[in-house]
Amino acid sequence: MIALPAGSYALVTGASAGIGEAIARGLARRKVPQILVARSEERLAALADELRASSGVAVEAIALDLASEGAGEKLAAATEGAGKPVGLLVNNAGFGFYGPDEDQELDRKLRMLKLNVEFLVDLTHRLLPAMRARRGGYVLNVASTAAFLPVPYMAVYAATKAFVLSYSQALHEELSGRGVAVTALCPGTTRTDFHRVAGLASGAKNPFPSLSPETVAEAGLRGLERGKAIVVPNLLDSVWIFTGRFVPRTLPPRIGAAVFSRLKRSSPV
Ligand SMILES: NC(=O)c1ccc[n+]([C@@H]2O[C@H](COP(=O)([O-])OP(=O)(O)OC[C@H]3O[C@@H](n4cnc5c(N)ncnc54)[C@H](OP(=O)(O)O)[C@@H]3O)[C@@H](O)[C@H]2O)c1
Repeated sequence: MIALPAGSYALVTGASAGIGEAIARGLARRKVPQILVARSEERLAALADELRASSGVAVEAIALDLASEGAGEKLAAATEGAGKPVGLLVNNAGFGFYGPDEDQELDRKLRMLKLNVEFLVDLTHRLLPAMRARRGGYVLNVASTAAFLPVPYMAVYAATKAFVLSYSQALHEELSGRGVAVTALCPGTTRTDFHRVAGLASGAKNPFPSLSPETVAEAGLRGLERGKAIVVPNLLDSVWIFTGRFVPRTLPPRIGAAVFSRLKRSSPV
């Protein structure tokens, strides 16, 4: 059970769609008050209205570009700084790019680093002290199975997720016994808008078994409730991640290059 200190909220980034929306729905079923954040103002407001009505608890929406300058400071000020303590931080907002590294614009790579890595550290840094002081809180960071190995044709994206996994595992150990649980959720292919945004053609024959965002979100929330450091929702992913430890480090990226170079591309959003 997720037990937040009285009067506090879950803050879910990237809640307007996909895994973030499914996490918000899972939290609403658990009657956890929430603050939802993403850029799409109308979608967020509609979701907040729906979840408020279905759960009977407070659900607020903040429309904000989290890759913009000062976003971490603004969000911390609008929540913890405005008398809305954050008891659960879900760092979910993120995006990727599919294609040869040289085809990706520098600006897009830097925005990806900003959202997937810099903003995540920024917001976590601003919200953790109050959680530590209250000796109660949760952080759910959405990484990826791409965190476990270099992924050719998704080079920068996979590196951002390797950062998220490493950072989360380290915080999990530092904060264990201090009342703050930190979990890294590592989904494999999940049926969301992620692939369209990343420039992977919808007709591309995806060799990986996919899960629904609802299944992934529920696995993440259950893992958080059980105090797990890492959650890999798809059993098949757990198998290759485990066996990958026993082969030379150079082999998985070579296999990855063979698989990923064949996928069909579309224009990234
Ligand atoms: N789908 C997969 O196969 C998969 C696998 C592994 C990991 N993941 C990770 O799961 C997380 C969620 O992705 P998803 O699959 O749910 O993709 P999605 O359906 O595209 O959702 C992405 C969410 O992030 C928000 N977002 C994107 N850029 C933002 C920005 N600059 N500021 C604020 N919010 C922003 C989007 O909302 P707005 O557009 O409204 O801002 C949306 O709510 C990501 O971190 C992704 O890397 C996904």
